[in-house]
Parts: sequence; structure tokens; C-alpha cells
Amino acid sequence: MKPMNKPTVSVDLAPLSEAERRQWYETGGTILRQGGTVVFPTETVYGLGANALDPLAVRGIYEAKGRPSDNPLIIHVADEDLSGIVRDIPPMARLLMDRYWPGPLTLVLRKDPRVPDETTGGLDTVGVRMPESPAALELIRAAGVPVAAPSANVSGRPSPTNLQRCIQDLAGRVDLILGLDQSRVGLESTIVDLTGDVPELLRPGAVTLEELREILGPVRYEPSVSLEADEAPRAPGMKYRHYAPKARVTIFRGPIPAVRAQMLAARDSSTLLLFIDEAGGGHGPAQADELARPEAHDRSLVRYGSPAAAARDIFERLRLADDDGYAAIWIQAVAETGLGRSLMNRLNKAAAYESVEVKG
Ligand code: TXA
Ligand code: MG
Repeated sequence: MKPMNKPTVSVDLAPLSEAERRQWYETGGTILRQGGTVVFPTETVYGLGANALDPLAVRGIYEAKGRPSDNPLIIHVADEDLSGIVRDIPPMARLLMDRYWPGPLTLVLRKDPRVPDETTGGLDTVGVRMPESPAALELIRAAGVPVAAPSANVSGRPSPTNLQRCIQDLAGRVDLILGLDQSRVGLESTIVDLTGDVPELLRPGAVTLEELREILGPVRYEPSVSLEADEAPRAPGMKYRHYAPKARVTIFRGPIPAVRAQMLAARDSSTLLLFIDEAGGGHGPAQADELARPEAHDRSLVRYGSPAAAARDIFERLRLADDDGYAAIWIQAVAETGLGRSLMNRLNKAAAYESVEVKG
């Protein structure tokens, strides 16, 4: 990756007053309007933003991430006025916006000619989403322009869900980094393409396939072509690029008690085990009592009380495992329904589809 050495300002907004925060949103908004890059929190993962209508500004995103410039970006807006971004809002899009915006859902629609090729990777469609985090909304409002933003990680690393990881990846590469809270969802937004004859789920997230089908009727989903973030869409001969921790990730499938028993029996001290209870049902934000609990006497075993709790922590856990020097991360699979499907989508990629089948 090309070295950069920008004078990045990093700010933790958490201890600041509302008035002080507002000043930083204004500062961030001005930077965005003037063509700079600003990292900001969202409920899915942190984003690396620039003015979506300014080709030079957008180039700053690719440069900072070390990401190929033919990758389409998601445009973030602060309200449902999409004029100048999309050509039209079809009825199905309106239904989804009413139901899920602001929130973790990106719609792929036909793009307005004013959106530059740099933002959409030359496609004639564009991904748009209205995030739920107040910090994101206030920043976008202050900017007064739509904000293109991929996840705020250096290309190939797990998406960041807190301020410290953004600083680690992007200090020296962007103009401003704003941090507030930990991302509530922890997985990137659900992406639905509404430009074909049948809606297609391109990336599962907190808004699930089941929910989409309930609202829209038939929705196509082909897990095998589902896109990795940081990957060009529908490219011929497309190769998966993975959320790549240095440790080797393996998924263990089968009846949960048998899977856990085998994982415990076969591990050594350089292996981190992740157990995920299915009971939580996977809807809504994780409850406090479901969150990561490294077992008291076994720091190499982390157990989550629900798929939602695992989703919220997983990218940070992959990075922590590398920091702690684990050689292997073994993860117990959950059923691929609801949020479990979205979680397994990311885990399968982190594991490069390497898995072990355990008999009951
Ligand atoms: O939750 C999120 O969506 C986060 C936060 C920051 O909002 N952003 C994010 O962006 O995940 P990124 O760049 O890491 O992932 C964007 C994904 C890529 O896989 C890209 O291929 C797909 O969105 N995408 C964007 N525009 C598209 C389009 N017009 N057609 C098909 N796929 C598109
Ligand atoms: Mg990404």
C-alpha cells in the first residue's frame, strides 16, 4: 500500500458535550464539502467518507484504503430525498425506505447521471443508504452533500467497529477521524438490488432475507456469488478477497454439543474458540447479557449468547485474536437463517470457506 502522511486529526466525541460535538460535525462537514476525507461512526461499521459527487474527493477514499478504484461505493444520505443521486425511486424501494430507513439497509437503484463514475465504479446503478447513527446523520447534514463511504478499514482487513481500529488503520491517510460509540450491528449493511425484474439480495446484514421476502415477495439470493465488501461486483473470474485475520480461521459444523466437544478436545494453546448460542433468535440489538464473555478460567474460549451478540463483536474479535498472537481461530457454526445467515456469510469468508464437519 502506498505510504501517505496526512496530518490526521482524531477525535473521541464520547466525552464531549452536545455543543462540542456539533462543532466537530460542522468541521467534518466543511472538510467533506471541500473534497477531504472524514471517518465517522455508523450502526453497521465505521465509514470512510468523501463527497460522493466530487470525483477527486472519491479518489481520496481509494487512496486511503489502498483499494482498487473500480469498486462501487455506497452513498450515505441524511434524508429520503434522493434527487441528483438516483433516476427514480421504484415502489419497492419506497416500501423498504419507509420500513428500514434510517438503518442498516442499502438499496441499489438506477443512478442519476450527476453521480460520477468514480463513485459507482462505472456502473449505471448506485448503492444508497441512510444510516441510523445520529453522528453520521449530523455529519452528512453538516456537509450538505451526499457522502460516499466504504468501511473505514485498510483494504483486506476486518471492518472497524470502534474508533481505535479506525485510528490504527487510517491515521496519516485521512483528514479527520470522528469516533463515538461501538457500532450496534457490527456487520456491514444489507444490500438489495432493485434494478432487475426480481429484487436480489447482494449482501445479507441486519435486515434479513426472511424480512425482505415478507415485504417484497420473491427475492433472489445466491450465497455463492454474494459479494465480499472490498470486492468488485459481478466481475468475470471474480476472486474472493477475505476479511483476513493472520490467524487461520476454521468453521466447525454439525450438532452444537458434538461440535463444541470436538473443538474443546482437539485445540491447543494457540487456538481461540468461539461458541455462539442460537437461543437469542437473532433479532434486534444484542442484550447486555448476551455479549462476549471470555470464560472465567479459559481466556481462549469466548461464548456469545446469540448471533446478534456475535455479529456485534466478531470483527473486533478477529483483530484481537491477531493482537494476542493466536495461530488459529475455530468457530462453531450457527444455522444459516435470519441474522445467522449474515453472520455465517462473513465467517465463511474469513475462513476462506474452510470448514470441518462434525457428526452427531
Ligand atoms: O454498512 C455499510 O454498508 C458500510 C457503512 C460504512 O455504511 N459500508 C460498506 O461499504 O460496507 P463497502 O464499500 O465496504 O461495501 C460496499 C459494497 C461492495 O461490496 C460493493 O460491491 C457493493 O457495496 N455495491 C456498491 N454499489 C453497488 C452497485 N451499484 N451494485 C452492486 N453492488 C454495489
Ligand atoms: Mg468494506
